[in-house]
Amino acid sequence: MPLSCQRDRFDIPEDVAYLNSAYMSPLPRSVYEAGRDGLARKLHPWEIGGSDFFDPVEALRERFGRLVGDGDGEGTAIIPSASYGIGIAAQAVSVPPGRRIVVLAGQFPSNVYPWRAVAERDGGSVHTVERPADGDWTAAVLSTIDETVAVVAVPPCHWSDGSRVDVQAVGEATRRVGATFVIDGIQWIGAAPFDVTEIRPDYVIGAAYKWLFGPYSICYLWMAPDRRDGEPLEYGWQERARSDDFARLVDYTDELRPGARRFDVGEASNFALTPAAIAGLDFVAELGIEAIAHYCADLTERLLEGAEAIGLVVAPEHLRSAHLSGLVLPDGLDPDEVGRHLHDAGVYVSVRGTSIRVSTHVYNTTDDVDRLLGVLTEVVAR
Ligand SMILES: Cc1ncc(COP(=O)(O)O)c(C=O)c1O
Repeated sequence: MPLSCQRDRFDIPEDVAYLNSAYMSPLPRSVYEAGRDGLARKLHPWEIGGSDFFDPVEALRERFGRLVGDGDGEGTAIIPSASYGIGIAAQAVSVPPGRRIVVLAGQFPSNVYPWRAVAERDGGSVHTVERPADGDWTAAVLSTIDETVAVVAVPPCHWSDGSRVDVQAVGEATRRVGATFVIDGIQWIGAAPFDVTEIRPDYVIGAAYKWLFGPYSICYLWMAPDRRDGEPLEYGWQERARSDDFARLVDYTDELRPGARRFDVGEASNFALTPAAIAGLDFVAELGIEAIAHYCADLTERLLEGAEAIGLVVAPEHLRSAHLSGLVLPDGLDPDEVGRHLHDAGVYVSVRGTSIRVSTHVYNTTDDVDRLLGVLTEVVAR
């Protein structure tokens, strides 16, 4: 059954065409209510018990694990940001002189700065794959992977325009040379199918606040089974074995909790945000990833057909994402100025480099897309 528009579950006024989930999604009302109720719990701290520090985090872990095809939460750590997760991966690898870390040109900085630091620390180098003229990132990445590569750290789609990287193919090539595969899935997971059992990455990051309908400051780090005994970034107490026995916290132990739990950020049991993040993942699970992806794809198709008709350049179908697109303006048009026109007309998108970045989601309507196209038609005709 195709998904119907979910706008009535959000608080989006009719005159707002918000096509910018890649920036941050609006909260569904159910998520807002879960967060509000979560925050309210601290009005009565005497009602917050020991299990409240652990059970909701387990529920969150499990939902993300299931979303990425892992079946349970054992492989998922709760972290605050992409950069924190990349930091964990960066700590686990070694990139000595002569070895390389592969990233894309213009990749999001949280997945670049930590790798520069690793290169500095270990003596290796960061290899930036330049944006290919034909738009085929996958071929460009594959052509650089050889025995000198120690880490491949790329996303399933470029954050600036949704141009695709086939992480399945890149994963296979990465495994062949024994390198570590790190995926920043923040602009993908929640909007399109993603299965760790097929892609077999070492580390994968998802964020609550974009395509998973959750609050800011909660991210997820899934890691492969053979990575789960690595060093955490912090040496917190909640990550220790038997930390749920509050009466014996100072019976210090070096034993860590099983699975990826040792990598949780300190105070991962955030009483306000955790219920909201759970509600966000439940919203995604209720709608279903395939249905979400189809809904986004239909709107994107309408958008790109219309954009091409007025002279904007878009990526060919096999190289683009269904939920996130870059519209390249004709020469002479200033993207920032076009962005301002759109904003004034109540159409919200992002300007990234030389393109207008548009994301479609389940609260968008064909009317939102047509309003965007209407403003673009006007500015192109001027
Ligand atoms: C691809 C990608 N990764 C990461 C982030 C955010 O990184 P962090 O959680 O470190 O702020 C963004 C934000 O737009 C992004 O687009």
